[in-house]
This record gives sequence, C-alpha cells and structure tokens, in this order.
Amino acid sequence: MRKKVTVVGAGNVGANCALRIAGKELADVVLVDVVEGVPQGKALDILQSGPVEGYDVSLTGANDYAPTANSDIVVITAGFPRTPGMSRDDLLLKNYEVVRSATEQAVKFSPNCILILVTNPLDAMCWTAFHVSKFSKNRVIGMAGVLDTARFRTFIAQELDVSVSNVTAMVLGGHGDTMVPIARLTSVSGIPLSELLDQAVIDRLIDRARNGGAEIVKYLKTGSAYYAPSAAAVEMVESILKDKKKVLPCAAYLEGEYGIKDLFVGVPVKLGSRGIENIYQIALRPEEQAALDKSAAAVKELIDVIKQKM
Ligand code: LAC
Repeated sequence: MRKKVTVVGAGNVGANCALRIAGKELADVVLVDVVEGVPQGKALDILQSGPVEGYDVSLTGANDYAPTANSDIVVITAGFPRTPGMSRDDLLLKNYEVVRSATEQAVKFSPNCILILVTNPLDAMCWTAFHVSKFSKNRVIGMAGVLDTARFRTFIAQELDVSVSNVTAMVLGGHGDTMVPIARLTSVSGIPLSELLDQAVIDRLIDRARNGGAEIVKYLKTGSAYYAPSAAAVEMVESILKDKKKVLPCAAYLEGEYGIKDLFVGVPVKLGSRGIENIYQIALRPEEQAALDKSAAAVKELIDVIKQKM
C-alpha cells in the first residue's frame, strides 16, 4: 500500500510540497486548506501532470480533515507569510491559532502520524504542535535547518564556483535572525571552509544565509520563499518514508541537549521511519554555544507569549 501524506495549507509552500511529493512518487497526497476550491483545484492540477511526468500517485484536495485519515506524515504549512519589513516573529499570534487548530484536526484523524512543521515562527509553531498533539517528541519536527543550510551551501558554492553537492554545512539554533551557521563544521568535500575562504568572506556568506529568507521576501513583496522551503520539507518527508536515516538539521524538542530545555531549536538529527531517531550533540566552542544560547533565548521569548494564550 502506498504511503499517505497530508499537506495542510494549499498556498505556495504547500502546493509545491504536494508537487514534489508526487514528482518523487513518495506517497498519495491530501492537500487541505480553509479556502474553498483552492486545495481541490491545485490537487487536480498536480494530478493531471502525472501522465506527462509519469507519476502514479493520487492527489486530492479538501476543506476538512476526514479525507486525511491515517496519514503517515502531516506537513503543516498553513499560516500567514511574511511581507517586507516583517520578521518571522511578527506572525506569532495569528499563526499560533492556525497551527493549533490544524494540529488538533490532523491528529484527530491521524493519531499515529509524524508532524512536520513549516509555518513561521517555526520553532514556536513546533512547540505549539507538540503540546497540542501530545505526541512523543520524536514525532514533531520542524523544517528550518535544511533550508537555512541549503541557502548557506548555495552561497558557498557560488563563491567558490564548485558543485553545491560537495558543500555540507551546519546551521544550529532557531529559524530566525539569531540562527547560528557554524563555519567550523562546514566543508567542501571535507576541506574546512577556513582553508578555502577568508574569514571576512565567510562572515559575509553567513550574514547572507541568515538573511536569506528576508532577501526573498524583499523581492517578492507579497510573501515569502516557497521553492527552497518546499524542497527542504520534502527531503525530510523522503528520509522518513524511506527510512533513509539522513542526518539533517531540524527543529527538535530539547530536554537538556546543548543546555536547552523545553524548547524546539535547530540541531542535527537522524530522520527515519520513527521520525527523529537521534539528536546529535556536538561539543561547541564557547562562542558558538553563546550564539546558540542567544538564539534559544529568542525562541523562549515567543514561547512565553504562547504560554499566556494556552
Ligand atoms: C524563509 C521562510 C519560509 O526562510 O521562513 O524563507
């Protein structure tokens, strides 16, 4: 039997997730949105690409969750995107309501699913879904690090004129302005970045990666990025459905790892059929730990606001 993935939110991120999942034949897809007609129309449109592209999966659109029953994975992308001048954190209260209700509905129909959160502010939305679903911590995962490292890898590859596939990068922390790209753990086919680029250039690339989302919001004006975010979310879906056990930076619930408790923060994890199968703890240098602490503190500020609402 085919796997089943529900994508909540039929906006640009959600629709592109559905398209990529279908394109890779990972699972049947149910696209859910509150707007009548949009998930149905987009699902049908993607379905009709199947004969051309050669994929055999079913795609359905819905405004309710009954058709999502027994999904293996539910990807939550629903929510308001940023517009120019906004930080991800400015979306907190509006998207809290969206994610709370989406989680309630999704887990009612798919009590055994794995939740992947994409909605911003990401780390706070993961925390919301974790508490609303009451799922074990391995089954609630946030997409941020794969995207943030993809941006960092893109800029490094461009700078060095090498294949992006040779660049591996590490970004820790919250998916916000305080994210922590770790240049020391970033390499090109194993060659440390510091052997290849001056510190000033590395700093410039780190800065651009950190502001990678805002750079795109500034161009688009009416919303935020969606091609790279959907690609990142689907890499996570694939690793789980195929039990690939990829080691990827994802937002995970921490209970003391890296000195952080009761927060979702980006760390390297192993993603397999059970969701997060391991959280890797790396010995950080004092300045790296300080930057991570600062990032975790920024996430905690948002959680404190949410706690008042719960
Ligand atoms: C970004 C948004 C999706 O980083 O958070 O582009």
